[in-house]
Amino acid sequence: MDYIAPNNLLVNKTILITGAGDGIGKALAIKCASLGANVILLGKTVKKLESVYDQIEALNRQSAAILPVDLKGATEEHYRDLADTVEHEFGKLDALVHNASQLGVLSPFKQVESKMWEEVMQVNLNAPFLLTKYLIPVLEKAEHASVIFTTSGVGNKGRAYWGPYSVSKFATEGMMQVVADEYEESSLRFNAINPGATKTAMRASAFPAEDTRLLKTPEQVLDTYLYLLGDESVGITGQRFNAQS
Ligand SMILES: NC(=O)c1ccc[n+]([C@@H]2O[C@H](COP(=O)([O-])OP(=O)(O)OC[C@H]3O[C@@H](n4cnc5c(N)ncnc54)[C@H](OP(=O)(O)O)[C@@H]3O)[C@@H](O)[C@H]2O)c1
Repeated sequence: MDYIAPNNLLVNKTILITGAGDGIGKALAIKCASLGANVILLGKTVKKLESVYDQIEALNRQSAAILPVDLKGATEEHYRDLADTVEHEFGKLDALVHNASQLGVLSPFKQVESKMWEEVMQVNLNAPFLLTKYLIPVLEKAEHASVIFTTSGVGNKGRAYWGPYSVSKFATEGMMQVVADEYEESSLRFNAINPGATKTAMRASAFPAEDTRLLKTPEQVLDTYLYLLGDESVGITGQRFNAQS
C-alpha cells in the first residue's frame, strides 16, 4: 500500500508495539514516535528496547516507555498487571500492534518437537490472545482504537516445513476475524497485516542463503501499518492486508 502519513498522524495517540526491539517492530516504533505517538515498547531483550528508546528520545518529539516481557513465559497474571499499568500510566490505549513472533525450526511435520510447537503457539498465538483480552477495556477508553495482528504469506496458505509458525498465523487470522466480528459495532477495529518478505533477523533465519539486496527493509513496509493506526482507517475492520502490494 502507498500511503503518505501526515506529520501529525499519531499526535495524542498511545500505541503499544510488541517485539519493538528489532526488525519491523523497531522501525514501526521509531516511525510512530516521529509522527507524534507515545510508544510503549514491549519486548524481551531490554538492551534492544533501550536502544530504540534512545533513538526515540533523540527525535525530541515524544518519549517512549519500555515494557520488558518475555511472551514465552508470561502468565495470565502478567497480562492483567500489564493492562492495569498501561491504564494507570496512560489512561487509554489507541492502538495495539501484535508484531512479536517466533519462527521456531523449519522441519518436516513428523520431526516437529512438541516443546517447540508449544513455544511458537505461546508467543505467536496465546500471548496476542491474552494481551488483546486484557487490553480491550483500555482500548475502549480511546475514542477509536486499532488492533493490528501480524500474519504471513503462510497464514492463509499452508506450506511444507513451516508447521507451527504457519498454523500459528492461520489461527492469528482466525482470532482477528472473531474479535472483529464481535466488535463490529464498537469503537474498536481489528485487522491483520502480512508484511511480506522483509530484511530482518527472522527472514535471515528462514532463508539464510538468499540475496538480501532484493528485500525490502523494515522501514519500507510501514505504510499499511500507519494507515491502520491513523484515523483514516476508522471503520475498516476484519481485513487482511498485504503490506507489499
Ligand atoms: N521478516 C519477514 O520477512 C516477515 C514476513 C512475514 C511475516 N513477518 C512477521 O512480521 C513480524 C515481525 O517479524 P520480524 O521479521 O521483524 O522479526 P524479528 O526481526 O525476528 O523481530 C521479532 C521481534 O519479536 C521479539 N520477540 C520474539 N520472541 C519474543 C518473546 N518471547 N517475547 C517478547 N518478544 C519477542 C524479538 O525480540 P528479541 O529481539 O528481543 O528477541 C524481536 O524484537 C512477525 O510477526 C513475523 O512473523 C515477517
